[in-house]
Amino acid sequence: MTKRLYLYPVWVRLWHLLNAVSFLLLVLTGISLHFITSEGNSLIRFDISVVIHNVAAIILTFNYGYFVIGNIVSNNGKHYKNWRKNLAANLWKQGMYYAVGIFKKESHPFPVTEDNKFNPLQKISYVLAMYLGMPLLIISGLGLLFPETIAYTVFNVSGLVLTAMLHITMGFILSLFLLIHLYTCTLGEKPLTLFKGMIKGYHDSHD
Ligand code: HEM
Ligand code: HEM
Repeated sequence: MTKRLYLYPVWVRLWHLLNAVSFLLLVLTGISLHFITSEGNSLIRFDISVVIHNVAAIILTFNYGYFVIGNIVSNNGKHYKNWRKNLAANLWKQGMYYAVGIFKKESHPFPVTEDNKFNPLQKISYVLAMYLGMPLLIISGLGLLFPETIAYTVFNVSGLVLTAMLHITMGFILSLFLLIHLYTCTLGEKPLTLFKGMIKGYHDSHD
């Protein structure tokens, strides 16, 4: 029997699409800006990279505000709460499933329900990415966009250098998150189940 749950309302899907597209543009142009050679050679022409990076950054920033407000005013916010409850035990259970159980065709330890659409590993990674990683990335990015707002020196070290270091570190960590995210999104009932859910809004499971 097919069980169908409506888990991804239109606003979440729109936010996610815009977030994914702007994020990919930022990673691509960020890498190009970072690995520019001393002769000025880069993956994408420098001035073009700067424009794309700045425009995608503004879109990502406003879109992030839309996500935070959306989660406050809608039911979706409940999926980002109570993430500390039984954290270690739940993570262990989910980790063991991904390491061993999945290959023995065991059933998912935390089946998807209307009240719990994320398993504990998804929940903690989404909470950390969206409520810690993204704010640090955006704040450091805004600092680079408006350098006059940054402290000139902090303990004798240039504030601009510190901000750039934080920005690059967060960009790197969130890019790693994206790789793991893409992989774990293939671990639903079938490899495409979760992707279809994010496109159509409905999560289908079969008994
Ligand atoms: C996935 C997201 C992002 C990644 C991977 C990323 C990565 C990078 C990297 C690697 C650089 C070059 C820094 C250097 O090597 O010195 C850079 C520069 C910069 N980033 Fe980002 N960034 C991201 C998002 C953002 C956001 C959200 C903002 C603003 C809100 C932003 C604003 C800037 C600015 C202003 C610069 C300086 C160059 C320019 O004006 O385009 N970035 N970023
Ligand atoms: C090519 C890029 C991406 C693809 C294909 C993708 C795919 C997916 C899929 C299939 C889901 C639904 C499965 C689930 O609920 O876990 C999902 C949810 C989610 N993704 Fe992504 N993703 C991408 C980029 C990103 C990025 C860059 C971020 C954050 C920086 C992100 C954050 C999230 C969050 C927070 C959710 C849960 C949304 C909710 O239902 O409240 N994703 N993603």
